[in-house]
Formats: sequence, structure tokens, C-alpha cells
Amino acid sequence: MTERTRGLEDSYEAHAFNKFPLALARGKGSLVWDSEGKEYIDFMSGIGVALVGHCNDFVVDAVREQAGRLITCHGSYYNDVRAGFVERLAKAAPKGLEKVLLTNTGTESVEAAIKLARRRTSRKKMVAMTGAFHGKTYGSLSATWNKKYRDPFGPLLDRFVFADYGDAKSLESMVDGDTAAVIAEPVQGESGVVVPPDGYFKEVREICNRNGALLIFDEIQSGLGRTGMMWASEHWGVVPDIMTVSKGLGGGLPIGAVVSTGEVAESLKGGEHTSTFAGNPLSCAAGSATLDFIARNDLSARAREKGEALKSGLSRISSAHRLVREVRGLGLMLALQTRVDIHSMLLAAQARGVITAYSGRDTFRFLPPLVVEDAQVARVLDVLDGVITEAEAGRF
Ligand SMILES: Cc1ncc(COP(=O)(O)O)c(C=O)c1O
Repeated sequence: MTERTRGLEDSYEAHAFNKFPLALARGKGSLVWDSEGKEYIDFMSGIGVALVGHCNDFVVDAVREQAGRLITCHGSYYNDVRAGFVERLAKAAPKGLEKVLLTNTGTESVEAAIKLARRRTSRKKMVAMTGAFHGKTYGSLSATWNKKYRDPFGPLLDRFVFADYGDAKSLESMVDGDTAAVIAEPVQGESGVVVPPDGYFKEVREICNRNGALLIFDEIQSGLGRTGMMWASEHWGVVPDIMTVSKGLGGGLPIGAVVSTGEVAESLKGGEHTSTFAGNPLSCAAGSATLDFIARNDLSARAREKGEALKSGLSRISSAHRLVREVRGLGLMLALQTRVDIHSMLLAAQARGVITAYSGRDTFRFLPPLVVEDAQVARVLDVLDGVITEAEAGRF
């Protein structure tokens, strides 16, 4: 079964993704099963998408019900399910962010945020951060740091510059009267779960205010309770003007959103930024179910609690192994950086029933569903300890 699936995808799907030799067929909560029925604990969760767990019952029921009622409804018509969703998201957003622009993905949300910032300020310059990842379409790619993604596709958008992430002085030297916005991940994901120093984002906010620049927080990976707060920006009490959300927002279905202040949202005229599927009732039904599930089950608190257990286990592994460089992160957005290439360790963990994400070549990244259970955390730590021990012994 796996071989057939691999053969077909390798033959007919363009080579957009580098793939692991696994065909996943089913999921429930923090578990997935491959096409041979083997079970895995999923600490990658589609890179943070299965936030409320795979095939969350509440989401599945909402999607089933909506699929039988209305799947598509262009944004130029009103729809009750979309109305309910934007209300929920606006109410869950940081105070002052009250308008929702709907999209389908993370990168589209960043595109929209860039357009909103330029439109609102009539300025062109954007200041992004070293290490940043915002997506792979032209606007978001222009704000993405990694040369591997950028260099083959230039020229990118004009007037994007990069300040050193976590260094307010570096930002200060770049923001001026022509800066439309500063864009940052409150916790950087793709570059290895990097948490900035305390006080940094307060200074970022002040620098933006002094220069009349907007502040965009990309909460696509860090939002929705993942770091132990509904929004990672809450760790530092800083509210942006524009916030991007996606990944877990649709309980697994594609959806994205830009939540902004009323003034920012009003700068856009009707028709200037729309897309065919944005706000479709199916994704919105899934989105409402997801937001309700997060709130009712206080998943932010759960991320704090389970995250503490995972992080202290990772720290124990770190002190026991010279091969480990550092453990980082907040809530259930954690990373363990090693001193070596981890590819063979990822494969060995998979063979033992554990899937994790990674950042670059040397870092394990952990983005489990927030419904993860203690026994699953313990099992993942056990497997990780085992593969690191074997790697140190030179067995891979
Ligand atoms: C912080 C951040 N922004 C934007 C994106 C892009 O989202 P998408 O892959 O849905 O385009 C990602 C994806 O990993 C992300 O982590």
C-alpha cells in the first residue's frame, strides 16, 4: 500500500515537498496511522495544524453538518456561518483588533497584511527580522530570511530590509518615516523556536509608535494557545496593529485570517483584496468549532501544563547528552537543538512510532496537538532519549 502510494505521488505529483518514506492514512487526537496500520505519536501535527487533535469530534461534526448544507458561498454574499466565525475570532483577538479579513492559508494572510500596511500608511518600506519565516509567495517570501527559499526566485518585492531579531537597537536603526510596518513572529518557528528577550517587543512597539509605522505580528505558528497563551504576544503584553492567523485555525481545514484594528481594515476598499474561496462556509464552520473547542477546554492552560512536562523532560535529555546543544521554547512550541544533522535520528524515531518536526538540519521541533496526553509526552521523551543515545554511540 505504502509503496503504491509512494509510486503514484512520485510519478504524478510535482516535486514540491521533500518527503519522508511514510504514507499516513488516518488520525485521531495526537495519533496517526500509516497505510499498514502502524501507529505513531504525532508531535509535528502537520507543522502545528492539528492543534485541537486530528479528526477532533467537535470539528468533524461541524464539518459534516456544514458539508450537507452549503460548502461554498462567495464573499460577496452574506452567510450565517461566516458571520459567526468572524465574530468569534474578533472576540478572541487581542483587545483593539476588531476586524477580520479571511484568507485560505498562512502565506495569503501575510500577503494581505503587507497590502493593508502599505495601504493604511501610504508608505513602502517593510522591516522584517533575521531568521523570519512568513511563507513562500512573493510578498511573504520577501519578508522571509532564509536564502535557500529566496535566492532562486529573485527579484523579490522592493524595500524589504531585515533587523536582527531580538535586538531593539538594530530595529531602531532601520525604522524611519518611510516604514509602513515592522513584521515579526512573536516566537520564531521555522528558524528553530527562537524566543526573544523579555522587554524586546515593548521596545519594538515603541519604535513603531515613534515612527508612525504599523506593527504586524505573525501568529500563524505561535497563536491559538500554542505557547501557553491564546496569542504569543500576550507573554509580553504587546498588541500589534495587524495579526496573521492560520495553521490550526480550521481544525485541519485550510483557512487563514488577518485581524486588525478598525482603522487599518478600513484603508482597504471593497474588491481590492478578495479571493474565491476566502470565507467559505465549510472552513468557517470548522474554524468556529475549533475556536469553541480551544476556549471550552482552556487549551492555552493545557499547553502550559503539558509544555512544562515536555520541556523539563527535554532539559533532562539535554543534560545527559553532549550531543544536545540547547532546549528552547514556550508552552507546546519547543525545540531541541543538537550539534549534528538529525535526519537519521528523525527516521529512527519514526521507526519507533514518533513523528516530530524539525528546523534546519540540527534541530528537533515539537508542535504536538494541544490535546496531547501525559503518557504520549513520556513516550516521545523515551524514544528521543533512545535515538540520541544511539546517535552518540555512532550507531546511525
Ligand atoms: C510564522 C509563519 N508564517 C507564515 C507561514 C506560512 O503559512 P502557509 O504554509 O500556510 O503558507 C508559516 C508556515 O509555516 C509560519 O510558520
